[in-house]
Amino acid sequence: MFSRFAANVWGPPAPRIGEPAGFRTIQAAQNHACLRFATIWVRDSFPRATVSLLASRSMTRVFITGTGLFTPPHSISNEELVTAFNAYVAKENERREGTDEEPLAGSSPEFIVKASGIRSRFVMNKSGILDPERMAPSLPQRAQGEPSLQCEMAVAAARDALEDAKLDASDIDCVIMACSNYQRAYPAIAIEVQHALGINGFAYDMNVACSSATFGIQNAVASIAAGNARRVLMVNPEICSGHLDFRDRDCHFIFGDVCTAVILESEDDARGKVAWEILDSKLRTVFSSNVRNDAGFLDRHDGSTPSDRNKLFHQEGRKVFKEVCPLVAAQITEHLAAKEIAVQDVSRLWLHQANLTMNAYISKRVLGREPSTEEVPVVLDEYANTSSAGSVIAFHKHRRDLQEGAIGVLCSFGAGYSVGSVILRRT
Ligand SMILES: CC(C)(COP(=O)(O)OP(=O)(O)OC[C@H]1O[C@@H](n2cnc3c(N)ncnc32)[C@H](O)[C@@H]1OP(=O)(O)O)[C@@H](O)C(=O)NCCC(=O)NCCS
Repeated sequence: MFSRFAANVWGPPAPRIGEPAGFRTIQAAQNHACLRFATIWVRDSFPRATVSLLASRSMTRVFITGTGLFTPPHSISNEELVTAFNAYVAKENERREGTDEEPLAGSSPEFIVKASGIRSRFVMNKSGILDPERMAPSLPQRAQGEPSLQCEMAVAAARDALEDAKLDASDIDCVIMACSNYQRAYPAIAIEVQHALGINGFAYDMNVACSSATFGIQNAVASIAAGNARRVLMVNPEICSGHLDFRDRDCHFIFGDVCTAVILESEDDARGKVAWEILDSKLRTVFSSNVRNDAGFLDRHDGSTPSDRNKLFHQEGRKVFKEVCPLVAAQITEHLAAKEIAVQDVSRLWLHQANLTMNAYISKRVLGREPSTEEVPVVLDEYANTSSAGSVIAFHKHRRDLQEGAIGVLCSFGAGYSVGSVILRRT
């Protein structure tokens, strides 16, 4: 099947492939679901310039025409968080007195800013997190008929994105929900969002942790290119406070809650809009347990409880730092080189927002010099690490000043390990 398809599309031998007849054959097949595989297959056998020319002629062009942001109602400063944490530590150390348990050490706002660049975070519930007796958000379960929390966040971000793209919900025919944690196994929350917005077509949930949004964008592009959808809504409702152990000094400050949304349309539908063409996307995964959360549907059967330390976010922060930074820098550099885009022509890097030093390291490696603050926007100071949504918040807030033709890279990275880079050009 594969070779027959390849023969149909690429049929003529190499010397004839650049001729008009060859182009016609390829364009006739442009909505075929296997086209990406054909491109990869041919790369080995034909000159590179010919292949990229043919590929660019044959691929359906897909554009981001709108983005949306839902910011939760409550913000917590480092000072507030540390006050609650240290009150918990004092109480816990009182309990430990006279036992053989080691006393706990306190946290400090100065350490948090120095180690991460984070100054505050938004959360869906503040009072539970700041209660030294609880140290976790209070998010009561909703009745069956009520929308789930993630659905509510996604609908708000989606409405913002639809307005940005000048579309109605009825114009969308695919919803991809892409985030790190889901509040239930099924039905898919994406289908609940689809229903809440009155969208026809299909919807599904997916999860590649902090890289979910870029993986979701590549899925959206594939669906549009294959002719399975015309317009895709991709949403990232992250309730990271739910998987964070606020009693753990090493990471209690890392995460925040948020939801972002992205609308993707084909060239025909995007015409006339200020939009961002997706020139290419590239995904990579390399297995590691250094960022891990073992919560799962078998918990009931292994004698654990939901607040066991391994059922929440845990990481080897230093190892993550050392291993992920070079992986990401290499990915962006190689991705740009493969598309024959000079790094000098890149105006902006919208990077995953986990740690300021990580982003400084990656951008310096990619650009070969110190970047300006405009070139590599920071939102983690205000939002903290919002997992998959971080790079999309940066894109949402820091793209409108760029001129037509400007090129930027949206890049996410995290658990898996996983890395996703999307090269964008403003129309
Ligand atoms: C997590 C992270 C911020 C920690 O920063 P770090 O500089 O590596 O800090 P360390 O954990 O090595 O701790 C350094 C010191 O600060 C102390 N410390 C740790 N937490 C502290 C806190 N909350 N307050 C005060 N001091 C603290 C440690 O005890 C240690 O002290 P020591 O040197 O006397 O042993 C950093 O490693 C990081 O961002 N890693 C990547 C994280 C990431 O992107 N993860 C992906 C998630 S999706």
